[in-house]
Amino acid sequence: MRPLQERGHTSQLDPEASASGTNPLRVLQLSDPHLLRQGHGRYRGRTPLAQLRHGLEQALAALEVSPDLLLISGDLCQDESWGGYVQLRNLLTDSGLTLALLPGNHDHPLLLQAVMGRHAVLAPAELWLGTWRLLMLSSHRSGDCGGWLGTGQRAWLRQRLLQESSPTLVAVHHPPLPIGDPGFDAIGLRDGAELARILSEASSPALLLCGHVHQHWQGWLGGEPGSPVLACPSTLCAFGAVQPCPLGRSEDPGGRLLELHHDGRWSQRLLRWSPWPETAAADPAA
Ligand SMILES: [Fe+2]
Repeated sequence: MRPLQERGHTSQLDPEASASGTNPLRVLQLSDPHLLRQGHGRYRGRTPLAQLRHGLEQALAALEVSPDLLLISGDLCQDESWGGYVQLRNLLTDSGLTLALLPGNHDHPLLLQAVMGRHAVLAPAELWLGTWRLLMLSSHRSGDCGGWLGTGQRAWLRQRLLQESSPTLVAVHHPPLPIGDPGFDAIGLRDGAELARILSEASSPALLLCGHVHQHWQGWLGGEPGSPVLACPSTLCAFGAVQPCPLGRSEDPGGRLLELHHDGRWSQRLLRWSPWPETAAADPAA
């Protein structure tokens, strides 16, 4: 795992280990693996652990160099089990990547902290990536499929944005605005309007990354040219796409690569791959 350095209540990638010169920092985003207690268990007809392992392999193979950070944007563990997080830990620590994890509505933040706290940066947290900082928010609210940041986290975010004017990524599981799907819009980020207000007061627009909707989606929080919002496909399965997939593969699992330039510019690339080929033998209970 790439080294992190503590900086007050924040962390930063070791500057000597980070990309140097004019090379952008690279964040690989995956989302919504929905792992289960048993590694061979199936959900929605697929084996979440095998699909995540396959997705990570496919994504890394598509990149020319290893990413500086792997961000997984929530719904890590469908059955909210200790065993599910142990599966996640075993897979991710083997990768050697620096890890940043968000809880989603299908997560148990205390179990996530207990199993992954020594191995990953967990939301809510601030992580410095060279001149960029990543503000990771937890939108998990027990008993609710929708998301909620709450007053304390919103106050922390406002304070961080006012104190530093660096280029900023904000990562949160739930999209902070409607995407145009009535089902998902009913379980979005319930204080998304407050988040939009906070971001509008910042000196420069932040880039928002989210998961939850199992599809590629892009929009603007606060209207263009507000904060760009990018939703990431799931490594497990796709839900009905609201927007066309730029790669014409809306049914496939996927992820996203972010390239963050030191002068504040950024670019992104959607990644898609074919699902890991499931077999009956993969699920003894099937
Ligand atoms: Fe999900």
